[in-house]
Amino acid sequence: MNTSINPSINHSSQIVTLTLNPAIDQSLMVPGFRVGEVNRVAREQSDPGGKGVNVSCFLADLGYTSAASGFIGIDNSQIFEQLFAEKAIADDFVRLPGKTRVNIKIIDAERHRITDVNFPGPIATSRDLQLLNHKLKSLLFDHDWFVLSGSLPEGVPGDYYADLIQCLKQAGKKVMLDTSGTALREGLAAKPDVIKPNINELEQLLGTTLQTPEMVLAAAHALIQDGIEEVVVSMGKQGAIFANRDGHVWAVPPAVAVKSTVGAGDAMVAGYIAARIQQLDLEQRARLATATAMGALTALGPRLPAADVIQTYTQQVSIKTVD
Ligand SMILES: Nc1ncnc2c1ncn2[C@@H]1O[C@H](COP(=O)(O)OP(=O)(O)OP(=O)(O)O)[C@@H](O)[C@H]1O
Ligand SMILES: [Mg+2]
Repeated sequence: MNTSINPSINHSSQIVTLTLNPAIDQSLMVPGFRVGEVNRVAREQSDPGGKGVNVSCFLADLGYTSAASGFIGIDNSQIFEQLFAEKAIADDFVRLPGKTRVNIKIIDAERHRITDVNFPGPIATSRDLQLLNHKLKSLLFDHDWFVLSGSLPEGVPGDYYADLIQCLKQAGKKVMLDTSGTALREGLAAKPDVIKPNINELEQLLGTTLQTPEMVLAAAHALIQDGIEEVVVSMGKQGAIFANRDGHVWAVPPAVAVKSTVGAGDAMVAGYIAARIQQLDLEQRARLATATAMGALTALGPRLPAADVIQTYTQQVSIKTVD
């Protein structure tokens, strides 16, 4: 086996992540929470989130700088600015008037119940989209990989990703798209180089259930036939199938003690991009992407264990093929 996987080589920024619809996750610990009564918060934690932001954070932990772009609300942008400063992520976000959406989780550890209260986010106008396009254009010069992650906020047309992918590809850039629903369906029309749907997102796209790995691989091959260079389908603890025109691998992680499943997919994307930049082959990409996802599962929040731990994980991933 090629043992050259090195998750922590220091790389100058070649990567842009795009998060059009980030969120701040605010967890309120309220033991014995009661609706319609006065409740006391025992502890509070706010975490800036969003899929591309997570990818940038995981890349930072792997030793890769990136530029993060998209929209954030100016009224609560500080929490993001602090994160970007801590992780040395270049802040290329366009500020919108108002607040980035906040998703409140009221966690009642006594009754084991979680109540969600989700704010709407700011609405992007066509002027905001112009500003964003301008920003992305300025990043074309010295970035090779563009990672487009997550949903489209209100105000952004459904074909936004398709238009953007077309421009990026015309400029000779590599594009990875990780989204779902209409944004994925429409984005596919512009043939991103790589997509990473999870199995549910792929089923929704195809309007069918994929009951076996053979069915997943056949679906991936159909997308490759349509012009997508590489398709990564993640399947939770069943691992992920990485397929391109020349072949496929099925990477299965060992059983891990899961602390949080939040961001496992985003970590997989980060590990995959790191592997592409290192020009690793398909098996090594699958190993590093899976090891990075495992790292995310064994830590709380979008952070990874030390590089030598990720390195060890790459060796623990089983590589098989679908018969
Ligand atoms: N419970 C688990 N045990 C072991 N590995 C897991 C588990 N859940 C996820 N993984 C690893 O993480 C990878 C990505 O997970 P998953 O398929 O859940 O992504 P996702 O649904 O896109 O996640 P996200 O919510 O971050 O978008 C999997 O392919 C697998 O390698
Ligand atoms: Mg996902």
